[in-house]
Amino acid sequence: MHASDDRLIVPLDVPTALDGLHMAERLGDSVSFYKIGLGMLTGGGLALADELKTAGKRIFLDMKLFDIPATITAAVAGLCRYDLDFLTVHGDPSVVRAAVQGRGGAATRILAVTFLTSADRADLDCALIRSGDLRTLVTERARRAFEAGADGVIAAAEDAASIRALPGAEGRLIVSPGIRPLGAGADDQKRTATPAGALRQGADHIVVGRPIREAPDPRAAVEAILTDIAGL
Ligand code: C5P
Repeated sequence: MHASDDRLIVPLDVPTALDGLHMAERLGDSVSFYKIGLGMLTGGGLALADELKTAGKRIFLDMKLFDIPATITAAVAGLCRYDLDFLTVHGDPSVVRAAVQGRGGAATRILAVTFLTSADRADLDCALIRSGDLRTLVTERARRAFEAGADGVIAAAEDAASIRALPGAEGRLIVSPGIRPLGAGADDQKRTATPAGALRQGADHIVVGRPIREAPDPRAAVEAILTDIAGL
């Protein structure tokens, strides 16, 4: 059995705070860092963030905010009252700058989303994103987000090395979703990596949801991941 490792972030992608609480209880002290996302916004997500924080857990609120700067600043200022560890916004420089302003002196780290890990080039074409390979665009978007003051980025593990190599990346965080332990299905993620693989490629944190939540024994699934990353 391993001690928890806050490089592993488990998303509570369940409908209500009560479901989230049950899952956190089930995982017990094997998990120290939880992500609460949009799916639980109407199900008591912020109350759950408060509750888990009081229980000593770290909280990543994954809101992927995108709006005009004044609204972003106001939203982030309000959310930072919840003593969050990480908060996501889209990586557009104006959005990142407004979020950093809203965060003020709070300890919340602002993380920028480059492109969703579920997106591939065909999806970018649909969104009228300029041509070029995905990694080049992701890296450029990360560079601009760092320049605007982001404390880190969300990025697929396979892009972590090129982001880590950016001159502005020192001291910034790379958080990678789309993680699949060996043998797990990809679900809707198009660009996946194993837990250890992602850390080796330069990620500081990995987000692992369905492979844990849908496992017959979620705690055993966490233990297997902790074994995979131990010593790295
Ligand atoms: O179940 P799975 O491990 O695919 O969950 C990944 C989590 O990471 C989900 O909560 C998803 O919203 C989030 N995420 C992502 N890709 C991003 C940003 C966040 O999959 N670029």
